Formats: sequence, C-alpha cells, structure tokens
Amino acid sequence: MSELIVVERSGPVQVIRMNRPDKKNALTRAMYQAMAAALVEGDADAAIRVHVFLGVSGAFSAGNDLNDFMAVATGGEGGLEVWNFLLALAGSQKPVVSGVDGIAVGIGTTLNLHCDLTFATPRTVFRTPFVDLGLVPEAGSSLLLPAFLGRQQAFALLGLGEGFSAERAKEAGLIYAVVEEDKLEPAVMEAANLIAAKPPEALKLSRDLMLGPREPLLARMCEERDLFQQRLKSDEARAALIAFMMRKKG
Ligand code: COA
Repeated sequence: MSELIVVERSGPVQVIRMNRPDKKNALTRAMYQAMAAALVEGDADAAIRVHVFLGVSGAFSAGNDLNDFMAVATGGEGGLEVWNFLLALAGSQKPVVSGVDGIAVGIGTTLNLHCDLTFATPRTVFRTPFVDLGLVPEAGSSLLLPAFLGRQQAFALLGLGEGFSAERAKEAGLIYAVVEEDKLEPAVMEAANLIAAKPPEALKLSRDLMLGPREPLLARMCEERDLFQQRLKSDEARAALIAFMMRKKG
C-alpha cells in the first residue's frame, strides 16, 4: 500500500486518506489503485460498515495528476486505474462519507457525487475545469450534477468552470454540511459512526432504493470514459496541459 494513500480502520469505519500534500493531493495511477483496493476490500469485509474519504489540511485533492494526463496525451498508457477506482466508488456497497478542506478540483469534486454525506470547510472551493482542459466530465458527473443541482448550476460548474464555495455548494445541494476546519474530521467521524450503528441490512436496502438502478450511471460513465480518452489526445487538451506545465517557467 502506498504511503500516499493511508488506509486506517477505526472500528467499523474505514478511513481512506489521500496524503500527497506537496502536490496538493494530485492523484497518481498508484493512488487510484490503492483507493480502489481499499474500497473493494472494505466492501467485502463485514466488519466495515462505512468508507470515509479525507485529504490533508488545505487540500482534499487537486484532481488527477496532470503529468499522467500528459503521458496519455503524448501516446502513453493510462486510465485503467482511474476507471477501476470509479467503478469501485460508484458501485460501493457501503455508505461513503467525505471530509473536504480547501482544494477540491476535478475528481476532488466529482468523488463527492458518489458520497452519501460530504462535509466541507468554509475555505473549500469545488471546481471541475474539464472543459478548460479540453476534456469532458468524468465519474458520471455529466449525469449526476444536472440531477443534483439542476441544469444551470451544473453548467456553471461543468461548462463555465466556476468555483463553488462550500456555502454555495451546500445551498445547491452538492454537499451536506459546512463546518470549521478543526471540526471537520470529528464531524465526519461522528457521522460515520452514526451510520455504522444503524441496522446494516435496513440501511443497505434503503440506500439502494435511494440510489436506484445503477445501469444508467454506469452507461454514462462508460460514455464519458471513452470521450475522455479521445479528448486527452486532442490539440485542445495538449495545449491546456502544456500551459499548466509551463506556468511557473519564465
Ligand atoms: N497534477 C500534477 N501536479 C499538480 C496538480 C495536478 N493536478 N495540482 C497541483 N500540482 C502540483 C504543482 O505542480 C506544484 O508542484 P511544484 O511545487 O513541484 O511546482 C504543487 O502541486 C503545488 O501546486 P501549486 O500550483 O504551486 O499550488 P497553488 O496553491 O498555487 O494551486 C491548484 C493549487 C490546485 C489551484 C493548482 O495547482 C492547479 O490548478 N492544479 C491543477 C488542477 C487541475 O487542473 N486538476 C485536474 C482536474 S481534471
């Protein structure tokens, strides 16, 4: 298990922590792989009742590592680990709670669409700059965001690339609660333990009813994945990735 992903158990709660502070928790292929494995193992373990996602102070995640995107853009391999993680996340058999502080870009935002409860701090900004990167939405966000937020707020996030403050995200229905930084992890763990104390069968049936059939979501995720892979090789994406790589030079 990579130290960039720290998986810990606190009784019935499995905590998956993204831990790459020097890169604002940009996610590499190995990190996705470690998170997917934790979800699959936690789902298979009857002692685990809830998954929790956390980041580090000031950074939940800056999204996919753009060097990995660049590798695909220039003809390399990539994408399988992300896909396996997204499948494990969208298909999670157990409730998922997240605690978001600070930076939440790309998958740092869309991961939360698959959570049952998301807590965020006042300094958090949710951002999905897929279009600005010459890409398309992922993680089912092109389906889930319009459903959660309505078409226009979803367009503001996905089309315009507007940042949503935690307060705006809560008002829009994207997250559950806003709590101060020092209260974030206690609030997340309290909620996770409350969930873990519920009758598990009744909770699972209720959650499955709320989620509804997963086929439409999976079908959209496949569509997004195929377009995303194509777009990574586009001139628009290459130009945006080069601009990011060059931004501190000269
Ligand atoms: N991929 C790879 N490296 C990343 C990264 C990413 N997604 N996000 C941040 N980093 C790296 C930076 O290159 C920098 O590395 P360096 O210290 O070796 O130069 C380090 O993390 C710190 O980032 P920095 O940009 O200096 O911090 P900041 O607080 O000024 O800005 C962000 C933070 C997240 C706003 C900015 O880094 C950013 O826009 N990142 C790209 C986000 C993105 O587009 N993600 C993909 C979404 S699909």
